[in-house]
Amino acid sequence: MKIPQEKFDEIAQANDIVEVISSYVQIKKRGKSFLALCPFHPDKHPSLNVSQEKQVYHCFSCKASGNVFSFIQNYEKITFIDAVQKLAQRANIDLRINEKDPDLSNEISKLYEINKDAARYFRKNLQNLSCNEKEFVYNYLEKRNLTSKVIERFGIGYSSNSWDSLLSYFSEEDIFTLPDIEKAGLLIQKESNSLNYYDRFRGRLMFPIFNENDKVVGFGGRKLYEEDLGGKYINSPETRIYNKSKILYGLNFAKEKIRYYDYVILVEGYMDLIALYKNGIENVVASSGTSLTEEHVNLISRYTKNIYVLFDSDFAGINAAKRGIEIILEAGLELSVITLPDGEDPDTFLLKFGREEFDKCLTRKKSVISFISGLYEKENKLESVDDKSQFIKEIINYLGKIPDKIKRAFYIKEISKIYSLYESDLRDELEKVVKENKSRVFPKSSVVIPEKKIANGSGSKNKIFQPEKDLIVLFIKGDEDAISYVDSNLEIEFIRNKIVLQIIEHFLDEYINCGKVELLKVLNDFENEEAKNLITEISVEKYEPSYFENASRDNWINTTEVQKYNLLYAKIVIENLRLRESQDKRAALARDPGNNLNEVFNLDKEIFKLKQNIETWNRQL
Ligand code: UTP
Ligand code: MN
Repeated sequence: MKIPQEKFDEIAQANDIVEVISSYVQIKKRGKSFLALCPFHPDKHPSLNVSQEKQVYHCFSCKASGNVFSFIQNYEKITFIDAVQKLAQRANIDLRINEKDPDLSNEISKLYEINKDAARYFRKNLQNLSCNEKEFVYNYLEKRNLTSKVIERFGIGYSSNSWDSLLSYFSEEDIFTLPDIEKAGLLIQKESNSLNYYDRFRGRLMFPIFNENDKVVGFGGRKLYEEDLGGKYINSPETRIYNKSKILYGLNFAKEKIRYYDYVILVEGYMDLIALYKNGIENVVASSGTSLTEEHVNLISRYTKNIYVLFDSDFAGINAAKRGIEIILEAGLELSVITLPDGEDPDTFLLKFGREEFDKCLTRKKSVISFISGLYEKENKLESVDDKSQFIKEIINYLGKIPDKIKRAFYIKEISKIYSLYESDLRDELEKVVKENKSRVFPKSSVVIPEKKIANGSGSKNKIFQPEKDLIVLFIKGDEDAISYVDSNLEIEFIRNKIVLQIIEHFLDEYINCGKVELLKVLNDFENEEAKNLITEISVEKYEPSYFENASRDNWINTTEVQKYNLLYAKIVIENLRLRESQDKRAALARDPGNNLNEVFNLDKEIFKLKQNIETWNRQL
């Protein structure tokens, strides 16, 4: 969305920086300016200086600075456009300039538009139900205590009980193509390659799933009709904007409250989250049926280090949640367990017993370690020697996941005291597990890079491997095919410079969330001066990739040529990064006398192939 300058000025004028900042942090007047504790770094003495006259802020200590828009953007960790929107809303300024004019410029923005449109359609549907559906659906809403306020807040809608209701709506509108709507997960192809489609969601209560920036990325549909043979919930499939391992339902609604209370309650279902919300507990997210991933936990850890999870208090419940527990502990977060009486989920519990009783459950929360100990105790599983050693194994396994040594030692002490076990026995066992964990290879998706591989940020700028810098150029150039190629072929281990890694991760997020990387906006996003400088330096001096020097300029004057060029360029960059990995591995093997000839042979073959690709593609430039 492009915001005209006048609108922009109007919004800026209507949002006094002192007023806005004071709604986030306490602010005190000092002479001409205002001072506050800086929210962008751990601040003991107020070092954030806010000037009402100039409408800017500046932190003496961490050097964060900017205007009212960048404050919101950095504080809320949202995009620039979203910050503008938020402030417009705050000042009651209508920003809908081209609501009727969807952004069809690239595939990702199309997917967003389609989901937005569908959400609107489902909502209208719920408001204008036909007579025979109306009574039935409203009965259900009443039974589940879904008031109009809640429906409004969560954008809940209804998909008609028909095969082609959404299909005809979109056909009439004639803005998006059916294959695009299928790509958004809303239609299903009757048979592959045919142009016949039908609605994925039929006769269901529709919960839009939002990303962190309040954009609809998919839906969960609750079954309403007995005769519906589908699962209780049907969810949108994964799409380019809906990656289930990266989206937590409700995070968009909850993030401010999570930061404020400094903990999050993790529940399973849409209705559980809504039930808590209705009862005034808003720091909640739901995993909505997918198992918890590292990405989910990373997402949460931006807002708090404390996760409260609701578990079934039996061994089956713990076993089912085992991987989730490990992931949370591995990330170094504090995990507490809340238990509800057997057979209740938060929704049913709150309906029956209300907020006060729920609060009691909250205060009875336990650390995961004491929760598991309690489980063993409750089932009398600490009697025999065998039982005890089983218990120790289980506990030690979880303890071994905690990266903080001191925290581990603390738990060891506690457990040894409670169960009269020798601290040293526990410690030996723990030592073994920790060693085992360390020796395991990092999974591919992990962002954890072995330390020795990372070049130090400062002072090494000139030594950054050129293809790493070229990655940045690619994002700044913004060609969709090229970025998409990078997105699917780049492995995070390829990037060894810490600053480049930070930049590229941010660019990828930005690309996934907004469909593009806007230079001015992303420059604002970085608090780190080195990152900012590197981006500016690269975008000013080296806007053309290093390979350009070999390219014949005359060949790519028109846009398709430029696009082709960018894609080729992306391929060469990736191939060069791969080449470095293989060459390094090869060099390491050469140093190792006990090397494996077979592996050397394969590496040589690969290196040859990579070099050949690079050469061929370079010639095509
Ligand atoms: P539950 O089976 O606990 O359902 O699944 P629920 O949330 O209590 O649902 P209600 O109260 O009967 O309406 C928990 C979550 O798992 C996902 C959904 O996100 C659900 O909210 N789920 C469940 C599915 O995706 N598909 C299913 O078939 C069932
Ligand atoms: Mn339920």
